[in-house]
Amino acid sequence: MKIVVTGGLGFIGSHTVVELQQEGFEVLIVDNLSNASEEVLNGIVAITGKRPSFEKLDLRDKTGVSAFFEKHTDIQGVIHFAAFKAVGESVAKPLDYYENNLNTLVYLLQELRQLPTAHLIFSSSCTVYGQADEMPITESAPVKPAESPYGNTKQIGEEIIGDTCKIDPKLQAIALRYFNPMGAHPTAHIGELPIGVPQNLVPFITQTGAGLRKELSVFGSDYPTVDGTCVRDYIHVVDVAKAHVVALKRLLQKKNPDNFEVYNLGTGTGSSVLEVIHSFERVSGQDLNYKMVDKRPGDVITAYADTTKANEVLGWRAQSTLDEAMRSAWAWEQKIRKKQMVVG
Ligand code: WQD
Repeated sequence: MKIVVTGGLGFIGSHTVVELQQEGFEVLIVDNLSNASEEVLNGIVAITGKRPSFEKLDLRDKTGVSAFFEKHTDIQGVIHFAAFKAVGESVAKPLDYYENNLNTLVYLLQELRQLPTAHLIFSSSCTVYGQADEMPITESAPVKPAESPYGNTKQIGEEIIGDTCKIDPKLQAIALRYFNPMGAHPTAHIGELPIGVPQNLVPFITQTGAGLRKELSVFGSDYPTVDGTCVRDYIHVVDVAKAHVVALKRLLQKKNPDNFEVYNLGTGTGSSVLEVIHSFERVSGQDLNYKMVDKRPGDVITAYADTTKANEVLGWRAQSTLDEAMRSAWAWEQKIRKKQMVVG
């Protein structure tokens, strides 16, 4: 029996593959390499000593998806990461996002429904809450109009799964709403590999610290927050990965009373952009070049998770502090820069 991880060569996907293997699962990675490289497989092997199976497949290819499921008749569960995830890019290319993030989910569900029992873990996002009215944000907070096509694909994705679970009790699913994943595996064999200029805060910080970027632009300094900069819930990617294994086991062990559940994945603590910068300065021992600039359209002011449901029902709790996550992000940045300099 095997677990299929779509997008398994990506940032959160690769860290989840490591945790699955270390829990004894057989893993088959499916990835179209649009935003990841096969090199990541070597990083996974360096950590676990086991090379996961890998098949290059674009889930937008409906025929290809059917052929995949015809070939693999021993699929025990699917963890579905494969999607485009750049908020800004989604505004510029909405149809690419709707096609890639939603058609693929429909094709996947159509195949899963052919299995005797299907277990699905869906990669969702706190962006479904928009600017929530109350902090911390619980899973029952109202879903608000998405700020971007990306966020909309996560909202619609959850609805597609929910509607399918309603008519098909054989489909057992959990959606995990990530807050802000950051950091890298403590071995520094895998980590975040943004292509081009990083959109996310933490890789931009570590690339600035490594001298790749001249300075960090802080988007907005007069928000109604502790220090005027936006607040987010930054969670170590290994904590996020472990939550996927806990959620999958919950389904396999039939501990879920409902066949579609939703959980927030956060630390429960909000950190401002300036607090994240100071975390970098503490763990790296160096000052960061940054300047205050205008707000970024689409940013919510504050978002951090109420983790009660994940802690008490799912039985999972984030373990790493912001500094520990930042330390792993910085170690990874230094590692890949060293490698790049060697490769020249
Ligand atoms: C964080 C804060 C920026 C870059 C992310 C993912 C999204 C979803 C939710 C999973 C904001 C500020 C950033 C920079 C800055 N996760 N910032 N200068 O927007 O919360 O969204 O988490 O689905 O996919 O993108 O994360 O890292 O872009 O921004 O000041 O150069 O850092 O304004 O306040 P965000 P982010």
